[in-house]
Amino acid sequence: MAKVSIIGAGMTGSTTAHWLAEREIADIVLVDIIEGMPQGKALDLTEAMPVIGKDAKIFGSNDYADTKGSDIVIITAGLPRKPGMSRDDLLVTNAKIVADVARKTLEQSPDAIYIVLTNPLDVMTYLTWKVTGLPTYRVVGQAGILDSARMRAFVAMETGVSVENIHCYVLGGHGDDMVPLTRHSNIAGVPLYKYLPEDKLAAIVERTRKGGGEIVGLLKKGSAFYAPSAALAQMAEAILKGKNLIVPATAYLDGEYGMHDIFIGVPTMLGRKGVEKVIEYELNDEEMAAFQKSAAHVKSNVAKLSEFGLL
Ligand code: NAI
Ligand code: 2OP
Repeated sequence: MAKVSIIGAGMTGSTTAHWLAEREIADIVLVDIIEGMPQGKALDLTEAMPVIGKDAKIFGSNDYADTKGSDIVIITAGLPRKPGMSRDDLLVTNAKIVADVARKTLEQSPDAIYIVLTNPLDVMTYLTWKVTGLPTYRVVGQAGILDSARMRAFVAMETGVSVENIHCYVLGGHGDDMVPLTRHSNIAGVPLYKYLPEDKLAAIVERTRKGGGEIVGLLKKGSAFYAPSAALAQMAEAILKGKNLIVPATAYLDGEYGMHDIFIGVPTMLGRKGVEKVIEYELNDEEMAAFQKSAAHVKSNVAKLSEFGLL
């Protein structure tokens, strides 16, 4: 059985374990700094397995030795934002946590593929790559599946069509300047603009961009976890099964879209190697300008990490 270690057993980490256990595709190790919490959640999930008829093994720990030999390491450790905070406000605190986690997990699992969730996502993915020194294709961040799923959900609410028929693509950094690609998005092959008037489409784009903040505002404590963890489980499954699944994810660009030395949201093919391929959409001038603006934001956060001596 494959092994997936999830570091950070909070809301996103534990719900990822839940989705993965239901899939019965890997043994799961949940690690956190809080004593007893990952053990308690793992035991609770283990006790749910007879009810749903799955034989997944879930183990909770405070010790990285238990992550030894993982095929995939998922990093969710770090602080979530509070109402009024931007993802960028978490930069320095979470960078220290993510760097520590990346180092400790790599010692145990030098062959693992890393999937990062901690915010600010694009820069934390870059940091994980730098700290581990792994080939770029073995480090990927989760944001695009979530952002696109939000857009798909909003289109479904507006049109009443099954979410299965709705295909949306959001590129760029995981921030309010992300780039929902309405021109490439469609309902069963029919462009979105044929279903929705311009003002409705614009409202969906805006709601997608602010989707994370909308949930933070409602929850008041913590941020979204069901949809982000469902996205993490889909990525882990695509990698473990070598599905070559095309989904938006945060990947390294080395010339694609004319960009270099950056992790940012793009369509990727996820398979056994990790990021098998970055797919290049033809962007028009407006889309490219929005993508470049988002990339400049990500780069400025990377520069801040350097200034703080964290890179
Ligand atoms: P949470 O607070 O529920 O869980 C985080 C866990 O990390 C806590 O249990 C905490 O004890 C643990 N932790 C802190 N330092 C640690 C360390 N050094 N080693 C191991 N564990 C450590 O937060 P939640 O909701 O799970 O979110 C986690 C992160 O993911 C946040 O930064 C959040 O902003 C981000 N996020 C990103 C999303 C994305 O799409 N990229 C979506 C949702 C959340
Ligand atoms: C979100 O978009 C918190 O970044 C996370 O919900």
